[in-house]
Amino acid sequence: MNVLVTGGAGYIGSHTCVELLEKGYGVVVVDNLVNSSAKSLERVQQIAGKDLAFYEEDVRNRGAMDAIFEKHDIGCVIHFAGLKAVGQSVSMPLEYYDNNLNSTITLCQSMKEHGVRDIVFSSSATVYSGDNTMPLSEAGSRTGMCTNPYGWTKYMCEQILRDTAFSDKDWSIALLRYFNPIGAHPSGLIGEDPRGIPNNLMPFISQVAIGRRDHLSVFGNDYDTHDGTGVRDYIHVVDLARGHVAAIEYMLGHRGESVFNLGTGTGYSVLDMVKAFERVTGQKIPYEIVDRRPGDLATVYASPDKSAQLLGWKAQYNLEDMCRDTWAWQSKNPMGYDS
Ligand code: NAD
Ligand code: UD1
Repeated sequence: MNVLVTGGAGYIGSHTCVELLEKGYGVVVVDNLVNSSAKSLERVQQIAGKDLAFYEEDVRNRGAMDAIFEKHDIGCVIHFAGLKAVGQSVSMPLEYYDNNLNSTITLCQSMKEHGVRDIVFSSSATVYSGDNTMPLSEAGSRTGMCTNPYGWTKYMCEQILRDTAFSDKDWSIALLRYFNPIGAHPSGLIGEDPRGIPNNLMPFISQVAIGRRDHLSVFGNDYDTHDGTGVRDYIHVVDLARGHVAAIEYMLGHRGESVFNLGTGTGYSVLDMVKAFERVTGQKIPYEIVDRRPGDLATVYASPDKSAQLLGWKAQYNLEDMCRDTWAWQSKNPMGYDS
């Protein structure tokens, strides 16, 4: 079966392309490279020892999408394409709503026209409200009350897809809510390559380790957690990628809407991450405690039980693996794909 992967040149998309190729799927990527490099796809093919098809196009371009569906016999779509920087979404809300909503709507219209009804969507733990108790579960936790436009785009895209599946029982949609993906392919050939100053913890730590930043700012040490710093559910990106393959296999036998958390179920604090990274890599990470980041929660982690039961998927990599593979990528590619 051929899988159309939108945003396949990006961080999670590139790792998922490797897993799909290794499992024998044909892969067709569409990406406008707004936040990625085509070099990632050369490396994907090098790792897998197989070719994929790549189109440098915007998913909002209906004509381009129609042409791709006409050229390739697509069985299923994984929709990663989207803008994802929370802070940027606050200053550029219209660009975020345009890109993330219109790409999803145009993609579904083109799929419908070409008889493709299976879609896996990149959602996020951010769709859960901030007033839940942990762990977060698909059926038991509240969603909504998002704190930024990026979060609302994920919430709204989930609803657009849910309504689409409700309107036509032939559709199968899997909404995958990612927790905190980190790490890289163990080969060190592909990984996360943020543009500008990283917003997220692990890319910042690894850029401190390689000497691109002089220290980490830890956003608050007065939370109600074991050491006062924020706790999150970090998941190895290869485990996350495999969750997509599991979702595709599940969808073959199930129509309608399904929602799955992709997390490990275990939370680590910012200082746990710093210490683990130092232990595994031997690199010192100088840090300074600063004020809390507005909008941050003390603790966020998933219940991964539903994914285990229905997808037969469970994260395999531990924290040491995540740190080791982050460092393999960063140290081999100090400036990312521009190294
Ligand atoms: P990424 O920026 O590395 O990948 C997204 C890709 O989509 C990029 O290659 C970008 O060039 C492409 N893209 C964006 N808009 C496009 C458009 N209109 N047409 C074509 N291509 C377009 O991000 P990622 O970390 O790999 O995230 C993938 C998806 O997962 C995103 O939808 C993101 O919101 C979601 N997500 C990411 C995280 C995370 O922490 N990384 C967490 C939860 C959800
Ligand atoms: C981020 C996203 C969120 C998304 C989630 C899962 C932001 C603001 N939020 O949040 O939308 O759903 O990932 O992918 O990007 N930290 C520091 N110093 C830093 C960076 C982070 O101390 O320089 C701390 C944070 O306060 C937090 C933890 O590290 O406690 C993790 O932060 P981050 O990697 O940004 O992830 P989330 O906060 O979970």
